Amino acid sequence: MFEWDEKYSVGVLSIDNQHKEILSIMGRLLEAMKKGQASEIIAGIIHELEKYAASHFQKEEFFFHRFNYIGSSDHIIEHQNFKDKIRALKSDLHSGKITLSFELLNFLKDWIDHHILVIDKAYSECFRLNGLK
Ligand SMILES: [Fe+2]
Repeated sequence: MFEWDEKYSVGVLSIDNQHKEILSIMGRLLEAMKKGQASEIIAGIIHELEKYAASHFQKEEFFFHRFNYIGSSDHIIEHQNFKDKIRALKSDLHSGKITLSFELLNFLKDWIDHHILVIDKAYSECFRLNGLK
């Protein structure tokens, strides 16, 4: 479900490597849920995902500003939506309002497929023209 595939490549190695790490954290989350591991362990992985994604978004956004990337504002909104969703999820988990479900995994999978394949790929040419590889 969260395996890396060359189709995800944006043509910039350091960003591909971060996307690989994000997929790997999501893969660990899937495994932990399948095994029915304790909620503290699952919450820990979600926390890790939140931290890693935030630093990855920062890196992308740094390049948007540096290269005057034309799609910057819409892209940053997508990052914010993801962060909001994870934050809401964490607080719901914390207050026991929801239990984790495969709906969350579907959300993450849809987000990966939409965000990397469509939104991130859109900056590929701009980043490469500015010398990233
Ligand atoms: Fe992005």
